Amino acid sequence: MEIKIIVGDIAQIEADAIVVNLFEGMEQPGGATAAVDEVLEGVLSSLISRGEIKGKFGEVSIVHTFGKLPAGIVAIAGLGKRQDFNVDRIRGITGDFCRALRKLNCHRIATILHGSGIGGIELEASAEAIAEGALLGLYGFTKYKKPEYEDIEEILLAVREKGKVPILETAIGKGKLVAEAINLARDMVNEPANCMTPGQMAEAAKEIAGKYNLEFKVFDREDMETMGMGALLGVAKGSNQPPKLITLSYKGDERSEKAVGFLGKGITFDSGGISIKPSEGMNEMKDDMAGAATVMTAVVAIAQLKPKINVTAVIPATENLPSGTALKPGDVLKAMNGKTIEVINTDAEGRLILADALSYAQKLGLSPLIDLATLTGACRIALGTLYSGVFSNDQDLADKVLKAAKGTGEKMWQMPMPEEYKEQIKSEIADVKNIGNRYGGAITAALFLAEFAANTPWVHIDIAGTASSTKESGYIVKGATGVGIRTLVELALREAKSQEAI
Ligand code: BES
Ligand code: ZN
Ligand code: ZN
Repeated sequence: MEIKIIVGDIAQIEADAIVVNLFEGMEQPGGATAAVDEVLEGVLSSLISRGEIKGKFGEVSIVHTFGKLPAGIVAIAGLGKRQDFNVDRIRGITGDFCRALRKLNCHRIATILHGSGIGGIELEASAEAIAEGALLGLYGFTKYKKPEYEDIEEILLAVREKGKVPILETAIGKGKLVAEAINLARDMVNEPANCMTPGQMAEAAKEIAGKYNLEFKVFDREDMETMGMGALLGVAKGSNQPPKLITLSYKGDERSEKAVGFLGKGITFDSGGISIKPSEGMNEMKDDMAGAATVMTAVVAIAQLKPKINVTAVIPATENLPSGTALKPGDVLKAMNGKTIEVINTDAEGRLILADALSYAQKLGLSPLIDLATLTGACRIALGTLYSGVFSNDQDLADKVLKAAKGTGEKMWQMPMPEEYKEQIKSEIADVKNIGNRYGGAITAALFLAEFAANTPWVHIDIAGTASSTKESGYIVKGATGVGIRTLVELALREAKSQEAI
């Protein structure tokens, strides 16, 4: 799909559909909507006064033009209440109107830069959000099934001033590449576990490295044994698929030795192991490598945006399966940092593989560390499917992550890590055990990870609730969401900028 700027009046553009908008509660259309209304001889204002078009957020009203305009269809996108409006809502409504128009067989659509008038949003921010909303909202996982609708081939963004074209093209370029990285992550997560084994994940990383000129390394079982990664190896024991530890490095600052570490949980299928999960919904556990896909594709976007910073993604990848060789409840594992872990529940495997990944990241000298993991059902219970949980041993770093997230519309909420709960992961026979009691499960999981983050500034983002969606809404479609990528990219850009200032 192409996204282009076009200078001129939206009403006069030849396209299958043009898109204007309305804030909720407005009795009279304004701006481009008013101009289109005039050509349509007041049809829009009468639909507004009849209450048929309300402008509620996410509402897409379709009006046929019957030859009064070059475009056959006018879509009126509801922007919601003016006081609730923000850039993320532009992404959302764009996803909604793109899907609505695709259903109507539109191939070429034109739209204004939503929110840039009375919405008070800058033109570039609007263009970037429209590019993201369109690509994300129109995404489908079509590898194994033909799509229901034909693609929208072209989106034209109508602007009035010619002078703005270059900066808007840059903004569209950025939006597109970030959205494409997110869609790449979605493809990886939606891929069934028989086609996304640890080995295939390593292959995907290798391909990415070749394409974007990144440094790629992969370690196998033997290397892990040499490095003493008993926790990762323990989880991998039950599977016939060889585990992989993958790193992908972007070097944007040759003069610096420092690098940020992005760690991603790469369980390509989580059956629970011997502590096996109920079969209902177990298929969803192919998503348990969403953290891995996030960090990998965040690096893809960063490599194209080229900030002056170094980033290394570290991905421990394995299946978690029951078998005659599998890890058993009660087993004790020795992690890379020498700590012993009593495995009470083999389904709490994410923290085991991340424990060794955290130690390895420290061995590489990476700092700060940010991990993303579909770690606990408890986090989904606590925060639902909209908010990812943020946990940290360093408040300054947590604030940076939360701020970056806010800037990109990704909803995150910091959770506490009280010392008192550490009691829960004390073991009688080992340094720690891998689960706590029934309550506060997302927190005890984070406290377990903190044991392995040691003194390195670290943030853990639990995306168990947010990594996939059962509903289609705005720029979110069913299946993998690609959550976290925008935040990581934004964080890298901001960090590079703040380093420059020093
Ligand atoms: N991968 C799961 C967590 C999960 C649950 C992700 C639902 C996405 C949706 C994780 O490995 C797991 O099984 N966690 C257990 C931990 C428990 C045994 C302490 C859980 O949350 O039930
Ligand atoms: Zn599990
Ligand atoms: Zn898991």
